[in-house]
Parts: sequence; C-alpha cells; structure tokens
Amino acid sequence: MDSSGKYNAAKLALELVKDGMVLGIGSGSTVEVFLNLLGDKIREEGLEIYGIPSSYQSYFAAIRNGVEIVDLVEFEPDLCIDGADQVDAKLNCIKGGGGAMTREKIVAKASRKVVIIVDESKLVEKLSMPVPVEVLPFAYGYAVKRLKEKAKDVRLREGKGKVGPVITDNGNFILDCDFGVLEDEKVEEMEGRTKLVSGVVENGIFPKKIVDAVIAGSQSSARFL
Ligand code: 5RP
Repeated sequence: MDSSGKYNAAKLALELVKDGMVLGIGSGSTVEVFLNLLGDKIREEGLEIYGIPSSYQSYFAAIRNGVEIVDLVEFEPDLCIDGADQVDAKLNCIKGGGGAMTREKIVAKASRKVVIIVDESKLVEKLSMPVPVEVLPFAYGYAVKRLKEKAKDVRLREGKGKVGPVITDNGNFILDCDFGVLEDEKVEEMEGRTKLVSGVVENGIFPKKIVDAVIAGSQSSARFL
C-alpha cells in the first residue's frame, strides 16, 4: 500500500514540534513515520525533544530517533501526536488497531494538545468499525457476556507470531466489539458505558473532546481538519 498519505500527514505534524517540547507519543505505523522524520530533525537542528511513549513499539522508535524518554510523574506533554483507525466528520476517532489504546488515551488526556495524524483513507462520515476493548484476562468470560448485551459481535483478538490471544503491553486481552454505526451523539455515551463493565480497562473510542485537530494526508499533500 502507498504510504505517502501517512508521510505527508507526519511531515505537517512535524512543523508543530519546537525545541524543548515534551511529546505524548501514540503508536502505529503513522506515528513511526513521524518519529523517523522527527529523528532527522533532531539530528539536523540539534533539538532536545522529550517523549512519553504509549507502547513498546513507540518507546523503541523514540529512543532510536534521539527522543529522551520521560514520564507522566514529572511531565505534562505539550503536544500528543497519535494515529487512528477511523476518524468521523466530527473528529471522533476509533483507535486500538495496534492494541495500544489504553496508554494512548492516558497520554492523550494528559497532554495540552492532541493532534491525530492519518492517511485520508481513515476518514469516514460515521464511526463503524469494531471498537477495541481492553479487559483483564480474569474478567474475560464475564466481560464478553456483558459486552454482548450491547454489541452485535464480540471477538477475542488473536495474535500473529504467537498462538492464542493478543496480550497488550499491560498484560491484558483485547475484545473487538461491533457496536455498528456510532452516531455522533452516541459516541461519548458508548465510550462511558463500555467502561462501566467490570474488568474493562479502557476502550478505543476517542470522543472529539479529546482531539484538538486531525491532519489528513493524501498522496500529494496534507491538511488540518
Ligand atoms: C494503535 C493505534 C494506532 O494509532 C492506529 O491503529 C493507527 O495505526 P496506523 O498508523 O498503523 O494505521 O490506535 O493502538
């Protein structure tokens, strides 16, 4: 697949990064493109950039690119850069295709500004993909039953390169829950209701109130939404 949309979105996001900033760092392939571009900028301009990564993937990519790792105990990120799996017309997002939504949401909520970078193929009128829900393994059976009361389908995410379920960076399972189309006015409600199930740690619904801006990249350019 052509990755120029990711590249163009990441390149525009790079313009927001200033020397001395603390970044909240999301996860996924678009964020990795961003970190590689950031690494070039750090080397060329001698910048000092601090980062709080949301996954082992972005932790390693940040270190490789000269970002100094810090944490949420001492720092509040100035800017969070993250990807998404779907972005609707109101800028509500679904995240968690990479299974990192719990730490991603913590880092995003802790940040002063959140900018989502996507290839424009992620833009949709309304959210509709299955929502990733992270659950404690102990709660698996119970959580499936409760989530099935609201979802058309609930699937335990299976691993690749490992038999059995995906285990998140927090040691938990992921249930991909098909809630059908999420109308704008239902987005926040579904995010909250899903979290009320005991054993659910977090879910991949990122309501628009968390998101300050989205940068959508096409083959030739990128634009702020
Ligand atoms: C990981 C995520 C990612 O940001 C999302 O899956 C988008 O990934 P990519 O940039 O590879 O398309 O939410 O949990």
